[in-house]
Amino acid sequence: MSVVLVTGAAGAMGQEVCSLLAESGKRVVCADINDPSAVAQGLAGRGHDAIATVLDVTDPGSWCDAVAQARDRFGGVDALVNVAATVTDGPDSVLDVDVAEWRRVLDVNVIGLALGMSAVAPALRRSGGGRIVNVASIVGLRGNATHAAYSASKGGVIALTRQAAVALAPYRITVNCVAPGVMEKAMLGKDTNTEDRAQWLAGVPFARAVREIEVARAIDYFLAPEAGIVTGQVLAVDGGRTARL
Ligand SMILES: NC(=O)c1ccc[n+]([C@@H]2O[C@H](COP(=O)([O-])OP(=O)(O)OC[C@H]3O[C@@H](n4cnc5c(N)ncnc54)[C@H](O)[C@@H]3O)[C@@H](O)[C@H]2O)c1
Repeated sequence: MSVVLVTGAAGAMGQEVCSLLAESGKRVVCADINDPSAVAQGLAGRGHDAIATVLDVTDPGSWCDAVAQARDRFGGVDALVNVAATVTDGPDSVLDVDVAEWRRVLDVNVIGLALGMSAVAPALRRSGGGRIVNVASIVGLRGNATHAAYSASKGGVIALTRQAAVALAPYRITVNCVAPGVMEKAMLGKDTNTEDRAQWLAGVPFARAVREIEVARAIDYFLAPEAGIVTGQVLAVDGGRTARL
């Protein structure tokens, strides 16, 4: 039974990912800077193998602890799913760069993700191969007027996915990413007004937000045996948003 370490496990998408992976028979290490114990306990209560670990993705020592916990409890790690990310507090633009905010976002979304790949790669290599799935965003593929730092970070996730896919292929480690469009729970969140929602949906051919479970299923595909030769790919899960002229 394979062991998957999922970051951002306490968040909206991370919880769906942990749940789907556990239901498909994987042992799940739920990792987040916000204590994800409730997520792991919920899964364990439904009869699944899951543990929680508090992980700050920007801290290499924290990654060592998470990998060590996976090894001690489940005997190792077979896959990593990098869901954790952060966003600037409000819209930001290249016309007004807040250096501290840019560094904070890039630290979590790009460097944190690189540290994760670096932390698990030796274990995957030792076991003869493995899987890494990163969560980017369609703003890493297409331009939007706001969230410059976040967009740059997600473009970085896509570039890093391709780079790592090539670098880790000799070890039979696949590296892929999903690029979600606007998510249902975020769309229903407190910061989003009806006008913003209508404007976003107008650009989506399917005319609805993406459900977290739909992204979780795309991630699960990249972890499946059938995807063993698929690497360096970006799968937009976006209701056709990036296909539109
Ligand atoms: N919400 C959307 O509309 C949307 C759209 C496209 C892509 N995404 C991406 O999907 C992923 C999940 O988004 P979400 O909607 O679940 O967001 P969320 O805010 O609910 O979850 C993000 C999680 O990351 C964790 N996190 C933040 N900094 C961390 C750190 N330093 N170390 C460890 N964990 C940390 C948070 O505690 C949180 O639990 C993210 O990568 C996000 O960029 C989201």
